[in-house]
Amino acid sequence: MKNNLKKVVITGGAGFIGSNLIRKLIEKDIEKILVIDDLSTGNIDNISEFKDNNLIEFVESRVEDCQNLNSLIEGYDFCFHLAAGVGVQYIMENVSKALLTNIEGTHKIIESCKVNGIPLLLTSTSEVYGVSDDPIWTEESKSLIGPPTKLRWSYAASKLIDEFLALSEFNDGKLNPIIVRLFNIIGNNQLSKFGMVVPKFIEAALENKPLIIHGDGTQTRSFTWVGDVVNYFYLLAEKQLYGEIFNIGQTEEISIKNLAEMIIKETDSKSEIIFKTHKEVYGERFEDPMRRTPSIKKIVDATDYSPTMTIPEMIKEIIDYKKLNS
Ligand SMILES: NC(=O)c1ccc[n+]([C@@H]2O[C@H](COP(=O)([O-])OP(=O)(O)OC[C@H]3O[C@@H](n4cnc5c(N)ncnc54)[C@H](O)[C@@H]3O)[C@@H](O)[C@H]2O)c1
Repeated sequence: MKNNLKKVVITGGAGFIGSNLIRKLIEKDIEKILVIDDLSTGNIDNISEFKDNNLIEFVESRVEDCQNLNSLIEGYDFCFHLAAGVGVQYIMENVSKALLTNIEGTHKIIESCKVNGIPLLLTSTSEVYGVSDDPIWTEESKSLIGPPTKLRWSYAASKLIDEFLALSEFNDGKLNPIIVRLFNIIGNNQLSKFGMVVPKFIEAALENKPLIIHGDGTQTRSFTWVGDVVNYFYLLAEKQLYGEIFNIGQTEEISIKNLAEMIIKETDSKSEIIFKTHKEVYGERFEDPMRRTPSIKKIVDATDYSPTMTIPEMIKEIIDYKKLNS
C-alpha cells in the first residue's frame, strides 16, 4: 500500500497524545510535521526534544484563529486533529471555551482539509456513550448523554457534533475522515492538573499526599497505553479506513479504589485515601458513568493489532517515568 504519510499536520501536537504521536511518526519515514497548538493545555517542552531535527514546524495558535489555515496545510498528506478542550476538570472550569474549540476549531480544520483534499483523523471520546447501560459499548451503541444541566456532557455533545460534521462531509464525498473514540488513555507526558486520575494519584502517592477519590470508588474504568493508541492512529491512516468510527481502548477494568490502592502499594507510599462526593468537588452539575468498557473487536480486526500492556505494567512504567522526571 502507498505510504500516504510523508507530510502530516497534527493539531494539538504539543499535548499528551500529540507528542507521543510525533515520537511514533519520527520512527517512520516522515518528511515533515506541522504542529498547530495554542499551548492551552499542551507544553512546548513535550516537543522541544524533536525540534532540532528540522522535521517539525510549530505554529502557536488556536486552530480557530489561524487566518491562513487553507494555505498553511496545503501540500500535506494527512491531518491528525487532536486540539480540543480536554479533561473533566478543565471542561467544568471552561465550558464555553472548550465547546467553542471543539466545534469551531473542528469545523475550521474540516473545511481546510476539504479544500486541500487532505484526509483527517478526528479524536472523539468514550464520553459520547454517556451512561449507556449496554454491558459493552460497540461503535453502534446508542448514546445516553445529558441532561444539559449536567455540564460535563457538553464535552460529549461537542465531540458528537464533530463526528456528525465529519461524517456528513464524507457522505457528500467531500472529506475522508477516520473517527476514533478514545477510552481513558494514559502514559508519559500526561499532566495531572486537568483532572486525569492516574497522573494525579501517582504524583500524590510519590509525595505521600492523600489520594482523593470522587464518589465511593466502585466506578470502574479501563485504561490504554498511549503507545498503543498512536500505533492505532498510524495504522488506521495508513490503511485509509475512511468514513468509519473505531473505539480505541482496553477491556480490562479496574475500580478507582483498587487503582488508588495499587498505586499506593507500587510507590511504597504512606498516602491515605480520602473520599469526596462528586457534589463536593463539582457541585450539582455533574454525574459520572459507573463503568466504561469498549468493544475493540472492530479496530483489532481492521488493524490486526491488539493493545500490549496490562494495567499494572502501565502504572509501573508511569511511576518510573515520573520518578526520573520529577
Ligand atoms: N487522553 C484521553 O484519555 C482522551 C480520551 C478521549 C479523547 N481524547 C481526545 O484526544 C485528543 C488529545 O487529548 P490529550 O489527552 O492529548 O489532551 P492534551 O490536553 O494534552 O492535548 C490537547 C492539545 O490541544 C491543544 N489545544 C487545545 N485547544 C486548542 C486550540 N483551540 N487550538 C490549538 N490547539 C489547542 C492543547 O494546548 C494541547 O496541546 C483530544 O481531542 C481529546 O478530546 C483524549
